[in-house]
Amino acid sequence: MGKKTAIITGTSSGFGLLTAIELAKNGFYVIATMRDVSKAAKLEELAESHNVKDAIQVQPLDVTSSESIDQFQVFVNTLTSVDVLVNNAGFAMGGFGEEVAIEEYRRQFETNFFGTIAVTQTVLPSMRQQRSGKIIYLSSISGQIGFPGLSPYVSSKFALEGFSECLRLELKPLGIDVALVEPGSYKTNIWSSGKQIAKKSMLEDSPYYTYMKSFEQQIETEKARFGDPLEVAQLICSLAISDEIKKLRHPIGKGVKLGISLRKCIPWSRWEKLFFHRLGQKG
Ligand SMILES: NC(=O)c1ccc[n+]([C@@H]2O[C@H](COP(=O)([O-])OP(=O)(O)OC[C@H]3O[C@@H](n4cnc5c(N)ncnc54)[C@H](OP(=O)(O)O)[C@@H]3O)[C@@H](O)[C@H]2O)c1
Repeated sequence: MGKKTAIITGTSSGFGLLTAIELAKNGFYVIATMRDVSKAAKLEELAESHNVKDAIQVQPLDVTSSESIDQFQVFVNTLTSVDVLVNNAGFAMGGFGEEVAIEEYRRQFETNFFGTIAVTQTVLPSMRQQRSGKIIYLSSISGQIGFPGLSPYVSSKFALEGFSECLRLELKPLGIDVALVEPGSYKTNIWSSGKQIAKKSMLEDSPYYTYMKSFEQQIETEKARFGDPLEVAQLICSLAISDEIKKLRHPIGKGVKLGISLRKCIPWSRWEKLFFHRLGQKG
């Protein structure tokens, strides 16, 4: 039997890049997609050093471009099977609800939500015909818990969670497993080049300017304690190689499981108090 095939979106950096290497090391033939293939050098270098260069093929894919999706569909149709899809491409838009332009919310959703659905639809006919496959979504702790100053990102991940929950129930009877990986904070580019702030919240005359700056400062201070992204890549790989993914949600990272269970179990009024206490603010 030939190698199993895994497709990953957003492999130029972070979780996507490391997952491509982990899956290749574990016997998959990896279709590593990225919107700008001129960024493939880092992945190729790492693949070379792990001796898995022949198991990785780079393909162009911008999840927000219908032209790119159509071209990718043509490529997918040439594959004999698609065993795993890792929907990883994403970025984080911050800003306060009063100030985030609708266009900015749309841009966030185009990548983190609609783009993800579009890529999923390119592989579903093959997986359905095979009656097997695994689709893994990079959600976040922000797919379960809201944070002030982060509503574009949080909303896009909540939407992704709703979509994936429905899809899991639609596809399980067809032999296809859907899973959500929900990381806390990890050291990737999402905190630098992958971060965008709504234009208005960055203007000094914004009523939220100081609030926004203090969040940014907090992230800068905490960055050094963020997790090693390899942990997440290894979790994704363990889901990909398992016989069956038995659970929909897979939280990972410092305090993530606890945070999510508290958010679900304790009354909202207590949660809110706890939340503001942690931020050092009055609710
Ligand atoms: N790091 C964390 O703490 C954390 C926590 C929870 C969830 N996540 C999620 O993990 C996923 C991966 O992020 P990361 O942390 O690894 O950040 P990252 O290093 O910034 O990687 C994001 C990847 O997505 C790609 N991308 C962005 N827009 C794209 C588009 N339109 N089409 C195709 N690819 C696109 C980026 O490509 P370019 O290089 O071209 O920009 C990059 O390869 C995201 O969905 C993110 O929300 C991250």
